[in-house]
Amino acid sequence: MPSGGKMATKVWESALESRKIMITIISGTNRPSSRTRIIANAVQGHYQSMSVKHQLLDLAELPAEIFSPTAYEEKPGSFARFSQAILDSDGLAVVTPEYNGGFPGVLKYFVDMLKFPESFEQRPVCFVGLAAGSWGALRPVEQLQHIFGYRNAHIFPKRVFIPGVYEVLSDDGRVTSMDLSDRLGRQAQDFVAFVERIRGIKLT
Ligand SMILES: Cc1cc2nc3c(=O)[nH]c(=O)nc-3n(C[C@H](O)[C@H](O)[C@H](O)COP(=O)(O)O)c2cc1C
Repeated sequence: MPSGGKMATKVWESALESRKIMITIISGTNRPSSRTRIIANAVQGHYQSMSVKHQLLDLAELPAEIFSPTAYEEKPGSFARFSQAILDSDGLAVVTPEYNGGFPGVLKYFVDMLKFPESFEQRPVCFVGLAAGSWGALRPVEQLQHIFGYRNAHIFPKRVFIPGVYEVLSDDGRVTSMDLSDRLGRQAQDFVAFVERIRGIKLT
């Protein structure tokens, strides 16, 4: 077979491969009608257009029972769909807003409620941050990198920061900036390649 034929087979296998992975997008606040959710929807659109399996977890949909102090000891059944979604993921895309120079408390609480250590151990994760201010959620993203690093996740180094988030969204909840859309698309594409490359490799 000519070498061109071999190449075609390889590309086809790689396209199939990308359909086998599952990316979970986390909308990292429980504030109703958050811009974080709008950005998470846009991220979701990029995985959709690449035919990559994906699901979106919106922390605004966390069940009330998970906030009972007893949840540290025993997780309510209604939380299972969240915790299982993380365990079933080949990669996580965390979208976080900036709240008071950090990421939302509910996102840390969510992390604390997940199964330890298997939720993040050697699981690839990428980050998108958004803020009203000009630092574009650099602080919350870097705080999250510390935490996921502590939990032995594989941190994807290309982050997306969104400063002045009010200016890049329309009133009906769409991303109006071409530049932002490109940046989110490139991150999603490169993250899929990263996840595929390290899938199945156990470092320890
Ligand atoms: C409780 C709270 C604290 C905030 N603190 C900051 C901040 O420290 N820096 C900043 O640039 N924007 C801050 N913002 C603005 C958010 O970044 C902005 O509202 C953005 O839309 C993301 O939040 P959302 O997903 O809740 O819409 C804050 C918003 C809230 C609700």
